[in-house]
Amino acid sequence: MQNKEIRLASRPAGVPTLENFQFVETEVPKPQSNEVLVRMLYLSVDPYLRGRMREGRSYVAPFEVGQVIKSLAVGEVVESASPKFQPGDIVSGQFGWCLYDVANADALMKVVPGVSPTTALGVLGATGLTAYFGLLDVGQPKAGETVVVSGAAGAVGIVVCQIAKLKGCRVVGTAGSDEKCDYLRRELGVDAAINYKTAGNMFDALKDACPNGIDVYFDNVGGDVSDAVMPLITNGARVVICGQISMYNDEAPPLGPRPQRYLLTNSARMEGFIVTKYMSRFAEGIQQLAQWFTSGQLKSAETIVEGFENTPNAFIGLFSGENLGKQIVKI
Ligand SMILES: NC(=O)c1ccc[n+]([C@@H]2O[C@H](COP(=O)([O-])OP(=O)(O)OC[C@H]3O[C@@H](n4cnc5c(N)ncnc54)[C@H](OP(=O)(O)O)[C@@H]3O)[C@@H](O)[C@H]2O)c1
Repeated sequence: MQNKEIRLASRPAGVPTLENFQFVETEVPKPQSNEVLVRMLYLSVDPYLRGRMREGRSYVAPFEVGQVIKSLAVGEVVESASPKFQPGDIVSGQFGWCLYDVANADALMKVVPGVSPTTALGVLGATGLTAYFGLLDVGQPKAGETVVVSGAAGAVGIVVCQIAKLKGCRVVGTAGSDEKCDYLRRELGVDAAINYKTAGNMFDALKDACPNGIDVYFDNVGGDVSDAVMPLITNGARVVICGQISMYNDEAPPLGPRPQRYLLTNSARMEGFIVTKYMSRFAEGIQQLAQWFTSGQLKSAETIVEGFENTPNAFIGLFSGENLGKQIVKI
């Protein structure tokens, strides 16, 4: 067995390019006590990895240049030095961008049986949990309220839209293409979807779509879309800061309209969160997401890129909106 891994070759300046990644052939590692050797089946590529490619503090330690990139993945156990797992088990956990990797058995989970293993990277994984806790715990939507979701056709966004509909809200999504907006309306039943790239004046478009104002804003993207949302928030509104992808490739934060006066005059709350804050409640979240999913109330959408060698491209594609739903690489 020959192993291959993908390392950070250099820190990106702006949008990452293929030159920032290096493919290296290595030996297949041997599992030590309580470790398992896993053959990768599916890798998750995620926007937050961009933050780990820059120097300095993000909410996770940065990758060093020359280090193997790591992300969530699903794979098959091929050798086990732990009584918890047998060869053939399908597991999810944090792995290097490799063909084979070892991991401590205590950090792995068996995937939910009876559903596609890719759901462990999307609706039944970290992105589903991010949507679940971010919307319900931070956003606290009530039936009849208007929820706006930016990045609505992405991995987190599609789950937020659907949970908000399940809770009886009016849901408005923003996304970067007409196809994505059609998907949000037709497949997920959102009440309105706005293509932020062609809408022209986003404030006017949002005002038309939200005649009673915006009670909950679930923000995945930041930037101009969020600037247009803030003047429309209602009294007591909740602004959930999940992600700011429009700024991840900027060297310095851009100066935009300042949101404080809208928060002040509406007695509104803006709160950032990181999903790992809810780790002690992950089992509850997965149980509810799995129940909605298996009963057909929650749909999954995935964009699957084929081939380990296409992993960097799949990651880079997140910044130009190539994915609908969860962006996954099939090894
Ligand atoms: N707080 C947490 O714990 C947590 C956990 C997971 C993810 N996140 C964050 O949540 C957000 C969504 O993550 P995800 O995994 O679901 O990714 P995703 O939405 O599936 O993929 C990224 C999407 O962002 C959009 N995008 C890219 N550049 C943009 C720009 N300049 N302006 C507006 N939209 C842009 C693209 O869609 P369009 O075609 O619509 O442009 C693209 O498909 C990210 O910001 C991520 O960092 C936070």
